[in-house]
Amino acid sequence: LINQNSYLVSGELKPWKGKTTEVYSTISSTEDYKPTLLGSIPQLGKDEALEALDAACDAYDKGKGSWPTMKVIDRIACMENFVKQMKTKRAEVVKLLMWEIGKNLPDSEKEFDRTVDYINDTIEDYKQLDRRNAKFEKQDGVYAHIRRGPLGVVLCLGPYNYPLNETFALLIPALIVGNTVIFKPAKHGVLLISPLLEAFRSSFPKGAVNIIYGRGRTVATPIMETGKVNVLALIGNSTSANALQNVHPRQNRLRLVLGLEAKNPAIVLPDADLDLAIDECIAGTLSFNGQRCTALKILYVHESIIEEFNKRFSARVDALKFGNPWEDGVKLTPLPEPGKPAYIQELIDDALEKGAKILNKKGGETSNNYVFPAVLYPVNKEMRVFQEEQFGPVVPIVSFNDIEEPLDDMAESNYGQQVSVFGKDVKTLASLIDTLVNLVCRVNLNSSCQRGPDAYPFTGRKDSAVATLSVHDAIRSFSIRTFVASKDN
Ligand code: G3H
Repeated sequence: LINQNSYLVSGELKPWKGKTTEVYSTISSTEDYKPTLLGSIPQLGKDEALEALDAACDAYDKGKGSWPTMKVIDRIACMENFVKQMKTKRAEVVKLLMWEIGKNLPDSEKEFDRTVDYINDTIEDYKQLDRRNAKFEKQDGVYAHIRRGPLGVVLCLGPYNYPLNETFALLIPALIVGNTVIFKPAKHGVLLISPLLEAFRSSFPKGAVNIIYGRGRTVATPIMETGKVNVLALIGNSTSANALQNVHPRQNRLRLVLGLEAKNPAIVLPDADLDLAIDECIAGTLSFNGQRCTALKILYVHESIIEEFNKRFSARVDALKFGNPWEDGVKLTPLPEPGKPAYIQELIDDALEKGAKILNKKGGETSNNYVFPAVLYPVNKEMRVFQEEQFGPVVPIVSFNDIEEPLDDMAESNYGQQVSVFGKDVKTLASLIDTLVNLVCRVNLNSSCQRGPDAYPFTGRKDSAVATLSVHDAIRSFSIRTFVASKDN
C-alpha cells in the first residue's frame, strides 16, 4: 500500500493529516471482482491549493525569481539531476502503471522509457536553442541576441491514459524554460507519481514545482479563479479545459496548451494491402483498449473490399488476448474508469437499435470493468458511436463508395487530429494528401495514427488541440521569443 501523506509545496513535502481518498486498482485480485486497494492520496482543499499557487507565484516573482532568472545551464543541471533520480524508480513506476491503469507490461515499460527519452531530448533541444541564440547576430543594422523567455505560472493537468508520459510532455518543457508549475496528477495513475516526489523536491529550487492532490473543482478551480495562472496546460477533455478556462478572470490573456478529443479515421482504399491495413487497424483501434487520443476511432472501408475486411478484422479482434497487464501477450485489459463499461454498452445498444450489427463473436462481452471490444457494422451518422469519441473498446466501421464521403465527414467533424490512409496508388495518395493536410495535422500513409516519434509536431485542428507539443515545439509553446538589441556587437 502506498499511503501518500504529503504534498509538495515550496520545496517541502508537507505532511497531510486531513481527509484522504482511497485509490483502487483497475485489476481485481479475486474471482468475484473485489477492487484491490492500492493506497490513498491527500484530499486537499482550497487553502492548500492556494498555498501551492502562492509558492509558484513567489518562485516566479513576476519574472524576477530565482528559477526564471537562473542561468540556462543551471536549470538544465536541475533537470539532469531529476532524470537521474527518476531512472532509479523505473520498476516501481512501471508496476504502478500496470496496477493503477491496467496498461500492459511492454507498454508500461515503453511509457517510462519514452518519458526519460523525452526529458533528455528536451534538455538537448533547449541546450541547442540556447547555443544557437547565444551570440549577437546582425540583421537590418541591429545586433540582436534572441532568448526564449518564460510566461509565468503554469497549471498542469495530465490524462489517465498516459499519466507519466503526456503529463511530463507538458511539465518538463514548461519548467525548463523558467516557468513555475503547479501540477495535479490525473485521478487514475496518481500513485505512480509518489516514487518521484523526492526527486522533484530535491532537484528543483523552492516553489519551482508544486504537486497537489484533490478534486479538480476543489483545487484547480480556485487556482484559476485568482487569475494568477498564465498558462493552462491540460491533456484531457474539453469539458474540464473549458470549465477551468472560463473561471479565469482574464481568460483572453491566458495561454492555452491543450490536447483534447479526436475521432481519427482510417480510410481503406480498394487497392490497399489488406494484411497490412488490418494489422495497423488492430493496433490503431485497440492498443490500450482504444484509450488513446490518437487511436483510430472510425474505419472507412471501400465497399469493394468491405466483406473481406470485416471478416478478417473481426476474427483478429476475437483472437486478441484479454487478461492482467503483466501476463505474456496480453493486449486487452480492464478499464480504469468505473463509468466506461456502461458508456461503451450505451454506444453499442444505440448502434444496434439503429441497424448496426456486432460482427465479432466475443464483441461486447462484459463483466465489471472487463469489456471485450465490439466491431460494429454498418455504422452511420445517426449513431452515437459515429459522432462521439468512444475512447474505449468499440470499433465502428463505415463502408464508402466515393472518397468524397469520408472527406466530407472529416470536414464536418469537430475534430481534426490525424488520419490513416491505406492504398498503393501513388497518384491517388498524393492527390488525397493535398486535401487531408487541410483537415487534420498528421496524415499517416499505410500506418495507424500515433503521437510518436516525439520529435514530430503533435497537435490538432478544431476542437482537438490548442498549441503544439513535441520535444521541439513544446519548448516554444511554453515560452515567448524575446531579444536583446544593440547597435554594437
Ligand atoms: O492519448 C493520446 C496519446 O498522445 C497517444 O500517444 O500515439 O503514442 O499512443 P501514442
